[in-house]
Amino acid sequence: MRFIAFLFLNSLIFSLSSQSIFVPEINNLLNPALKPFYFGVASGDPQQTQVIIWTKVWNETSQPVTVKWEIATDTTMQQITATGEVTTDVASAYTVKLIAKNLQPNTTYFYRFTTCGVFSAIGRTKTAPLQADELKFAVVSCNNYEHGYFNAYRLIASRSDIDAVIHLGDYIYEYGANKSKKHPSIRQHIPDHEILNLQDYRSRYAQYRLDKDLQEAHRLHPFITEWDDHEFANDAYKEGAKNHQPEEGDWVTREAIAKKVYFEWLPITDNAENTVIRKLNYGNLAELFMLDGRVEGRCKQVESPSDTMLTCVTRTMLGKKQSDWLTSGIYNSTAQWKVVANQVVFSELDAHQLSKKYAINPDAWDGYPEERREILDSFYQHKTQNIIILTGDIHLSWAFDLVQNPKDKNRYNAKTGKGVIGAEFVVPSVSSNGLGEKFPRGLAKLIGSIIKRKSTNPHLHFQNLVDHGYVLLCLNKERAKATWLFCKTLKKRTEKYSTKDSRMTKYNENHLVKN
Ligand SMILES: [Fe+2]
Repeated sequence: MRFIAFLFLNSLIFSLSSQSIFVPEINNLLNPALKPFYFGVASGDPQQTQVIIWTKVWNETSQPVTVKWEIATDTTMQQITATGEVTTDVASAYTVKLIAKNLQPNTTYFYRFTTCGVFSAIGRTKTAPLQADELKFAVVSCNNYEHGYFNAYRLIASRSDIDAVIHLGDYIYEYGANKSKKHPSIRQHIPDHEILNLQDYRSRYAQYRLDKDLQEAHRLHPFITEWDDHEFANDAYKEGAKNHQPEEGDWVTREAIAKKVYFEWLPITDNAENTVIRKLNYGNLAELFMLDGRVEGRCKQVESPSDTMLTCVTRTMLGKKQSDWLTSGIYNSTAQWKVVANQVVFSELDAHQLSKKYAINPDAWDGYPEERREILDSFYQHKTQNIIILTGDIHLSWAFDLVQNPKDKNRYNAKTGKGVIGAEFVVPSVSSNGLGEKFPRGLAKLIGSIIKRKSTNPHLHFQNLVDHGYVLLCLNKERAKATWLFCKTLKKRTEKYSTKDSRMTKYNENHLVKN
């Protein structure tokens, strides 16, 4: 029924969209030298024998456009592996997405597009391996355009050693422009109002994709993406969002627009239901489970930790279908590392020493404890280990031992790893404000040290609440290691790092140690 409603809405959205694709202000951001491929190229969802490649053409005629594509094994595009032709039109905002097939595993490829005799930039991508000794992923989330330059993407683009970029959501933010004179933004959102309709969402993605650092990261690495709340509206759930008011229109229509535009602009596998839930296989070493903890099965957040609905057994974040898919998929996986690309913090996090009102975050898994308990019960029942949960959303950096009831000394020992079945790595924001912007840095650091006390959160092994950047996840047969790489500043474009820190867990030992 949801699917039929989606199809109906999709055609309704399109028939109502007689307006131009973008708001006029987007024109001011275009680099004439890149016409008609202003938005660059991208690739995504790599598999052993195929990868998605993407571009967008600029077209003033409103007629369909034919685009040729080619993929090769050399940078000069002489050793062509596959080539073809596709047509795009206004229905997809002249975006182009296709699957390049019959490729070799674990191979670097180069690709480009051409229309009317003009070539796009040459992109670089990489297929997944059948067997691997090592994998490296750059893991990111939360790039708010207004809050700073995307230096994490600049740094990621400069790497040549990663297999893919995993994006955990908040790829765009829906808010209007910050007009505060007291606290001005680094740069301002287009359009300047909160995005609500099809033109708004497309314009916002266009603005973000015209950021040269994000564009370059897309050009040089395949992305594996999922959405969080801000691709829709803040604190989204299945039937609405905290930042969606009745006067802003019908939520189901807004949700369908947001999904349509996400699939237009991201190099993600198209599917009839526009879902981001999927599995990617990295051979013997890793299997990647992409989740939708937002609009697939999430019940509305409770208002406070004292709400009696908090522990209601029917309240879900994933919904039964998705959580069964996850637990059975992990149980049946033969890969050494089971990597879960998750949106919000999964581990228990006790902040009662800071505030009774904010002792838990109702938007995180602490707000859905019964579904989390069921998922963990399943892992323990099946004696599943070596689970790596990747988390974004919160604009803070954490590393947790993955354990049920971390304060129960009979069940958990941080030193020996008793009771631990994996690790959760929470990645910093690329640019979105963290505690370092909300409070003086010294106070933010003090908050971090209070939360990290052993008596409060004994399973928390690392925290940084003030810096921005990305996580490099390195997997091999011996260990899973996360390195937090922080940017020196977001106030100007720079390739300078400030600090880094890392934690790792050894295979089958399942507890975090400093590395
Ligand atoms: Fe965020």
